[in-house]
Order: sequence, then C-alpha cells, then structure tokens
Amino acid sequence: MEKYERIKKAVFPVAGLGTRFLPATKDIPKEMMPLIDRPLIHHGVDEAVASGCTEVVFVTGEGKESIRRYFEPSELLVSTLRERGKEALAAKVESIHELAKFSYAFQEKPLGLGHAVLCAEEFCGGEYFGLLLPDDVMVAEPPVLSQLEAVREKYGYSVLCLEEVDEKDVSRYGIVEAEEVEPGIYRVKALVEKPSPEEAPSRLAIMGRYLLSPKIFPHLKNLKRGAGGEYQLTDAISSLLREEPVYAVIYRGRRHDCGVKEGWIKATVARALEDPELRKIILDTVAEYEKI
Ligand code: G1P
Repeated sequence: MEKYERIKKAVFPVAGLGTRFLPATKDIPKEMMPLIDRPLIHHGVDEAVASGCTEVVFVTGEGKESIRRYFEPSELLVSTLRERGKEALAAKVESIHELAKFSYAFQEKPLGLGHAVLCAEEFCGGEYFGLLLPDDVMVAEPPVLSQLEAVREKYGYSVLCLEEVDEKDVSRYGIVEAEEVEPGIYRVKALVEKPSPEEAPSRLAIMGRYLLSPKIFPHLKNLKRGAGGEYQLTDAISSLLREEPVYAVIYRGRRHDCGVKEGWIKATVARALEDPELRKIILDTVAEYEKI
C-alpha cells in the first residue's frame, strides 16, 4: 500500500466583494476585518498551518493588495518595534510571513466558488488540497481540516465538512444527501446548492472547509453556471461523484459565520470571553449598559 501523504496545500478564495459589510469594506477586503487582534484571514491560515499545510494560495481579485502586504515581511515595522523595546510584538509581526509559503492566483471576476478553485489548479499540482473559506471561523481542537484529514486517511477520497442546520437555513448552503457509514461520517450520494426547504434532501449543510481530490479540476472546467448564475463548486462535486466517492463529516467544534454582521459580532464577543482581561471588559460593559 502507498504511504499516506497528508495535504500540504491550502487554497483560500478571497476575491469576494464583501458587500454585507459596506461601507467598511469599501477600501479594505472583508478578509482583513479584525477578529480581536488578527484579521479573519489570519485565523484561517493558522488553522491550515495547524493542520500541517506548508503552502498557501490566495485566489484574489481587484482591491485585495492588503492581503498580500499582510503576509509579506514588514522589516521597517519590526525594526521600529525592536528599537522601542517591544520584542514580543516584533516577534509576533515577524512570524506572520513565516507561517507558510504564500502565493497568489488572480480571479479576474467573482464568477463563483467553482471558478475561484479552478484558478488554483496550477498551485495544487495534481495533489489533494485543503480549501478554506475564510468567512467561516472555526474554533475546534483538533482543527477542522485535521478532522477531515482523519476521514480521508480512513476512507480515502474528498471529504466535506457538515453541520446540521435549521430547515429555514438550508437555502444558504450546499446540502447533501448522504448515507451514514459510522456515527458522524457519511458517504455522499448527491448534492444541491442552495435548495429551497422543499427541495432540500436533508438538513446536512456544507461548511467552509473542504479536502478535495485533484480529480475535481476537469469537473470544474466543464461547469455550467448554476445557482445564482455562478460556477458552483457544489455542482463540480456532484459531477465528481460519478467518477469517485466523496465522504463528509460532521465537524466537532464551533463555527462563526463572519460573512454576516451577527456572526462577526458573536465571534468577537466569544473570542473576547476566552481571554481573562477582555472577558472582564465585555462583562462590565454589558452590566453597565444593561442598567441604562
Ligand atoms: C459556499 C458554497 C456552499 C457552502 C457555503 C459554506 O456558499 O457554495 O455550498 O455551503 O459556501 O459557507 P457561499 O457562502 O459562498 O454563498
């Protein structure tokens, strides 16, 4: 039997417009919005690195230069911090560009997630890869990408990340029809992108972490426009299913959907509550305003 190779490559689609946060995202990419002291995208990269990835590609679009700058060395800032004796901060900033080997693919137009992934084909070089949607901030131990990897190690093939959602929310996600092969692990039978509650085959929704087979690429190339007039990754995975199996797992952990204001606020509060100093600030503030 061939030796099992863990994935090394992580793809981050970051070409979206961030309309839900306008005007805040007029001049900064939504992926650069801070969650406490790190931009959202940094949280995703940390998860990929903690899952063993050493190479990252950002599929970027117009106006996303600050993401590239963020992951480049900032010698001036680091030396200024050192001159001022702020060694811990200098080390924190310096470590960012050392997290992984970063590269960039350009998506000229936001034509959908399927199209974004296709832009990363060259980077993936025929290997299995991780796909992380940075809007979904996952708090989990082991990291969610590692949880998917454990399923691939056992069953092989692509692995999707699932959460059971309320019926009213199925139309926000890709939904799978699947057969449970052991508690929490499924073999996918069919997928549908953003169905109405009547059309949805289940309430098992795909979340923003994927482990994908390189065989996905020909299916991405043959895609026709799907839901919302976009090239949908979900449709390419449906097509891949005719060639090889696809598995899925209900992840263990918590997800914050930072693509919407409610989720971003919740994530900020939840993260702050984990830090003893910030926890006090949050609780004191709530107590103070409750009285008004
Ligand atoms: C994308 C996928 C969808 C998935 C979702 C997870 O949708 O197309 O299948 O359920 O991410 O966040 P988007 O949120 O980009 O509309």
